[in-house]
Amino acid sequence: MRVGILHPGEMGASVAATVLANAHEVAWCSAGRSAQSRARAKTAALTEFQTLEDLVAWAELLISICPPASALEQAQAVHACAFEGWYMDANAVAPATAKGISQLFGSAYVDGGIIGPPAWRPDTTRLYLSGVNAATIAGWFCQGPLRVVAMTEAANVEVAASALKMAYAAYSKGHSALLLAANALAQNAGVLQALHDEWELSMPGVVKRSVATAGAISPKAWRFVGEMEQISATFADHGLPGELHAGAAQLYALLAQFKNQPPADLAALLQVLSQPEE
Ligand SMILES: NC(=O)c1ccc[n+]([C@@H]2O[C@H](COP(=O)([O-])OP(=O)(O)OC[C@H]3O[C@@H](n4cnc5c(N)ncnc54)[C@H](OP(=O)(O)O)[C@@H]3O)[C@@H](O)[C@H]2O)c1
Repeated sequence: MRVGILHPGEMGASVAATVLANAHEVAWCSAGRSAQSRARAKTAALTEFQTLEDLVAWAELLISICPPASALEQAQAVHACAFEGWYMDANAVAPATAKGISQLFGSAYVDGGIIGPPAWRPDTTRLYLSGVNAATIAGWFCQGPLRVVAMTEAANVEVAASALKMAYAAYSKGHSALLLAANALAQNAGVLQALHDEWELSMPGVVKRSVATAGAISPKAWRFVGEMEQISATFADHGLPGELHAGAAQLYALLAQFKNQPPADLAALLQVLSQPEE
């Protein structure tokens, strides 16, 4: 298959590696992308197209792996190029957003959701696929290292992969936001050390997890804003309160200044959260 990756970010580059490992061809579109994406594409030896039109004309399958807030816009740009192949959205988007994208591509749409870190080794990361073509497309990537799982039995199968990703990240990234928020509250109230002392007594490991969460989250918090907004909308669509993740979106937005920086320590994050206006 001729597979286009939109785009070779941290996750997209690793998905491209799996596609190549399954003996397909992989290309990318350099228009508008940063030096970091270019470097990842070069390392992976991906074929470069300079315009989206040229990539779309070449590809039989396009895989969208971009910031969730840009997923619909990305799909619309591809649709505007009269793409005739398969389109997979593998972003962390609400089922309602995925349905909107699916309407652009009809039966050629495949819904995707990725769980786990960039998939450089086996058994770390799953790409869930749903929709009528899920099993067919999963079969093209059976060599890994990314494990591709077709959700053929799921209810609401058209967008089940997106629903699964929303529920998973609601807990994982919602939990990280809650942990940082509790630390920030204690800091602003002047009881951070007391909270940490109490956690060491009653919930050992939570202080360590707070420190690890700060480092892991800080460079990516900007991207989590859109994801939390998609999760909030998903809760509301299912008759559940969406405010928890709307709040998480606000918290991650305050941390956007750490975008693409080295991992920050907890104190640096709490300083920013303590002075949100600055
Ligand atoms: N990283 C993970 O551990 C992980 C895990 C599970 C799921 N995912 C999902 O994978 C997707 C991408 O995550 P990532 O970690 O690969 O992010 P990333 O490293 O920030 O890469 C995002 C890619 O999209 C491009 N991009 C930036 N702005 C864009 C826009 N407005 N329109 C189209 N493309 C744009 C970036 O290009 P430039 O920066 O070069 O402009 C980059 O190539 C997200 O939907 C995320 O939820 C990631």
